[in-house]
Amino acid sequence: MTAPTKKVALGVSSSIGIYKACEIVRGFQKAGVAVQVVMTPNAARLISPLLFSSLAGTKTIVDTFEEPEERSIKHIALAKEIALLCVAPATANVIGKFATGVADDFLSTLFLAASAPVLIAPAMNEAMYLDPKTQANMARLRALGAEFVEAEKGYLACGDTGWGRLAEPETVVKEGLRILGRSASLKGKTVLVTAGPTREHLDPVRFLSNPSSGKMGYELAREAVARGATTILVSGPTTLVPPCGARTEMVVTAAEMEKACLKAFPKADVVVMAAAVSDFRFKDPKGRKAAKHAFGAALPIEPTTDILALLGRKKKPGQLLVGFAAETHDVVAHARRKMAAKNADLMVANTVGGGRGFGTETNAVRILAPSGPVQETGLLSKREASRVIFDRIEAQLEKKRR
Ligand code: CTP
Repeated sequence: MTAPTKKVALGVSSSIGIYKACEIVRGFQKAGVAVQVVMTPNAARLISPLLFSSLAGTKTIVDTFEEPEERSIKHIALAKEIALLCVAPATANVIGKFATGVADDFLSTLFLAASAPVLIAPAMNEAMYLDPKTQANMARLRALGAEFVEAEKGYLACGDTGWGRLAEPETVVKEGLRILGRSASLKGKTVLVTAGPTREHLDPVRFLSNPSSGKMGYELAREAVARGATTILVSGPTTLVPPCGARTEMVVTAAEMEKACLKAFPKADVVVMAAAVSDFRFKDPKGRKAAKHAFGAALPIEPTTDILALLGRKKKPGQLLVGFAAETHDVVAHARRKMAAKNADLMVANTVGGGRGFGTETNAVRILAPSGPVQETGLLSKREASRVIFDRIEAQLEKKRR
């Protein structure tokens, strides 16, 4: 049986660079990818949708309210079918709408409805491209997971020479194919991700915990799903919405997390321990709220199980264990020591404290393996960081196979 053809939605908006979109359709087709073109109404005033219909072999979509051919709602049906939404050229207006969630035409509605990866190739006048508002919209979209093919410097439609020219069609297609390749790179694999803090109760109203928000772990689970893995997310208490497509199990205590991890571990090819597991629990927790004078000056505590170390002892040769180390100082040295002690294959280290790490939207991480140089990322959104971490996980899996 041949694999079903992947489908890309190519969003085309009204920039002069629109003529390059024809080559982009061709480029995807040559690589065996089906293309459905979606034009904004303004783009349809620059080039007839018929040209794209003829090239793509499917009717170009422009109008949300056009009489549907079938009974399905078109933008929802297409959102489910596509493996990539590529927007080239993307005007400042389209980028602004995407960044703020405005959905007033087919393309912007599709953007909101689709969970497929998004690739955006901007094209506009230099002043608009470099304007802080456009740059802020692009930064917001990057943080939400969209990827960009940067505009190039060159001759622009307004007669100026500067930044803002649509990237070459081959560059856009190459980037699109790279993302499509990634969309199935973990197919057939099971990934277990832990996230968030654990809580160790003293009584029903008091507990020991830490400030972990769970954001990094949730983004990692989202990335595992995006790469086609069967994804199990074991999460401590957070206020986050579980990633679509992951099997999420909510736990409260370290002991519950340990139980859930041990259950999932035999099937897991990759384990990413991003949770901030509480190291201690109270020895004598009360089932009912106790008055404060019922407690002595010191509260007896005992260590919880180190889940990563436990899995490290049980690990089979094909399994890959990834640990996290959040440190205030001597980050690399501590991470290296923990990697060896817990038999992890990779360690993701970051600095916490002083406003960094816990609960923030961004993270700068260092990735360590038992040998080789330390990989450093700059400050990235947790969405982007999860992509870098999974690229490294895949490289390490490949090394293990050899
Ligand atoms: N970890 C775990 N179970 C625990 C504690 C930690 O699985 N009871 C995992 C974390 O999920 C993380 C890694 O171990 O992936 C390192 O966590 P960290 O708290 O930095 O390590 P500790 O060994 O607890 O070291 P420290 O003495 O610095 O707290």
